[in-house]
Amino acid sequence: MTKKDQIELANRFLTILGDRIGGGIALLEAEKKLSATPTQLRHLIELLGGWGYKVKESDGQLNLVEVGDFVNDFAIRHYLAAKVLGQKIHSYQSLGSTNTTAWQLAEQGAPEGTLVVADRQTAGRGRLGRSWHSPPRVGLWFSLVLRPEIAPAEAPGLSLLTALALAQTIQSRCRMEAKIKWPNDCQIAGKKVAGILTELSSEMDRVNFVIVGVGLNVNQTKSDFPAGLKTKATSLFVETKTKWQRAEVLALFLKEFEHFYLQFKKSGIAPFIKEIERRMALLGQKVKLAAGKEVITGKVAGLAPDGALLLETKTGSYRAISGEVAVL
Ligand code: BTN
Repeated sequence: MTKKDQIELANRFLTILGDRIGGGIALLEAEKKLSATPTQLRHLIELLGGWGYKVKESDGQLNLVEVGDFVNDFAIRHYLAAKVLGQKIHSYQSLGSTNTTAWQLAEQGAPEGTLVVADRQTAGRGRLGRSWHSPPRVGLWFSLVLRPEIAPAEAPGLSLLTALALAQTIQSRCRMEAKIKWPNDCQIAGKKVAGILTELSSEMDRVNFVIVGVGLNVNQTKSDFPAGLKTKATSLFVETKTKWQRAEVLALFLKEFEHFYLQFKKSGIAPFIKEIERRMALLGQKVKLAAGKEVITGKVAGLAPDGALLLETKTGSYRAISGEVAVL
């Protein structure tokens, strides 16, 4: 049996178990429903155990007693509703950086939508050469290989689009208002809950591929954050007091992002600007923008149709296509 068939069968098994802790079915009925021999069923139970789903057998009855928070091929496929993104999944317990591996895979021809996800990163990378704290089991650290037919100048729009899809995912699943901090952070109550690292391989006038890397703090407690991040970072758990199934959150994000991305490939970022502005942190606030060696102060006026940040400064309107914004 191929891995894909195993995953499909295991998913059917989970469904007939009721897909929840406490769910169950009679052993004989499970064998019948899955057309499986007792040995095959035992293998399936072992397989599920390795993926974090514990099935207990007693008195001819099977019960799902534990669902681990795993972010592996099986768990993601269990929730996956996207049609293009995540069709190919490379999942790891530990990796240097999912962006680096996704880049290597893209160079080897990995198809559009390939997902690289790791339970922990040992060399997670942030923007501007920073590192990204990626401890095991608590966050979502993943990268997507995208191959849009766009001009290189349009690629930064993908960061904004990702931030929008993240904000939307947090809003719809966690019922929490998430804001977008230009150009590519997601915040809850003024603290960073997710960061995006978009990397581009291109020729002068055409994109080869784009790697969109996302770090989303999911189940960290306050004390899980290192001292330097405690006041600046947050997680979905800290904000909602609820532990989230990371694979479910990831699958939901992929669905939201795919929906936006298919439109982006046809019409660019312009149709999304209003919605991004509506969710923008710092709109109307006085900020300092560091762009390369330049530092500009001004009031955030909004976004241009191409996603550039517009500042109202003493000397007129300033347009930034990249940089780091801080409240004054
Ligand atoms: C930032 O806010 O500076 C961007 C952080 C991006 C972190 C993610 S985690 C998954 C992917 N792999 C990396 O090495 N970085 C991105």
